[in-house]
Amino acid sequence: MLTAAIGIHDLSFSTGQFVLPHAESARHNGTDVDKYHVGLGQVAMSVPAIDEDIVTMGAAAAAPILERHGHDRIRTILFATETSVDQSKAAGVFVHRLLGLPESTRVVELKQACYSGTAALQLAVALVQRDRRQQVLVIAGDVSKYPLDSPGEPTQGAAAVAMLVAADPALVRVVEPSGLFTNDVMDFWRPNYRSTAIVDGRLSVDAYLQAVEGTWKDYTERGGLSLNEIAAVCYHQPFTTMAHKAHRHLLSYCGQPSDRRNSAEAVGRTTAYNAVIGNSYTASMYLGLASLLDSTDDIMDQTVGFLSYGSGSVAEFFTGVVAADYRDHRRRNENRDVISRRTEIDYAAYRELHEYDLPVSGEERALPRQTAGSFRLAGIADHKRVYQPR
Ligand code: HMG
Repeated sequence: MLTAAIGIHDLSFSTGQFVLPHAESARHNGTDVDKYHVGLGQVAMSVPAIDEDIVTMGAAAAAPILERHGHDRIRTILFATETSVDQSKAAGVFVHRLLGLPESTRVVELKQACYSGTAALQLAVALVQRDRRQQVLVIAGDVSKYPLDSPGEPTQGAAAVAMLVAADPALVRVVEPSGLFTNDVMDFWRPNYRSTAIVDGRLSVDAYLQAVEGTWKDYTERGGLSLNEIAAVCYHQPFTTMAHKAHRHLLSYCGQPSDRRNSAEAVGRTTAYNAVIGNSYTASMYLGLASLLDSTDDIMDQTVGFLSYGSGSVAEFFTGVVAADYRDHRRRNENRDVISRRTEIDYAAYRELHEYDLPVSGEERALPRQTAGSFRLAGIADHKRVYQPR
């Protein structure tokens, strides 16, 4: 069941300035490093500089897309995030100015934990379906932050993915149907007065697996493909072994062999970027797609599955077909550069960054220059966030 060919025409991402290797954390907190490397499947995590946030990362992710395609056909920016910087103003409006986009643009922010990047993608597809000349800029970006010394701490991370959604896409055509699932569960949330998330870890893993079943059931009831027709699956990756766990769960739900070898085939090529960046919430599944496209040379015309999970919880399973000439349009070298140009920090520097808080009372503060990225949060003045090109 194919829709008109609409989907991801370009994809670019950015991450934080710093990186903390999990071997460094293990040395300091006495944890066996294999718990991180093998148990969670995480090698390192990105840590944003003090003058970085979802706006600076989102603008940095989107800038290369505008350089390649211009902005003449972009009429909408959808910014998906759960680490919003304002209760009223959409983060995308700051990005709109930083990137010099025309006034004749609509900009809006979307929220539902890690899921909203997918809501943005599906809304973008619908908008392009209405007018195939238009393009939509989707940005999904987050800074994942848990309390120090909590079980969630090694699953932190930060990144933003920008996607240009257009007709006749050069990377992935989004296909119907979608399988949907919503369940009111308190597995992970962040009240307005907190900068760190609250999570019931065990419950969150169970809720994720329940959502995998729920979306798949709905997907198959709506005439979706069988699992054997799907070459690889990009899962939301709070930590990369979660993707394996989820796929094994799906295989066993479908009555198929579900050992680690089976999940490695479907999921193994999607985890390289998430393993060194950490959880980037709304961006995570799309980093999985970037990893898949960059690490394979032979998946043209094949079907890829996407399982997007957002705690709380909302989930969606859908598929896409990889374009015949995707290798000419992916950004493999640029993506690898984004990861390798981070500055490694030690455990003490990480803890200091973690505990740095912007003034909640809105008092004036100029922020230290730390980021080497293209955009920075210069400070707070008169309760306003001041963003600048670096
Ligand atoms: P924990 O209690 O620290 O870890 O919390 P554990 O004891 O469960 O160990 C983790 C794994 O490492 C286990 O493997 C251990 O066996 C293994 P499993 O049994 O799961 O297969 N392990 C080792 N392996 C090799 N050598 C060793 C070793 N030691 C242990 N020496 C937990 C883990 C994930 C709960 C915690 O990190 C956490 O709370 N994370 C945050 C919540 C989270 O990521 N939940 C995932 C699902 S919810 C979701 O994805 C949504 C989310 O992204 C938010 C949103 O939607 O907005 C979080």
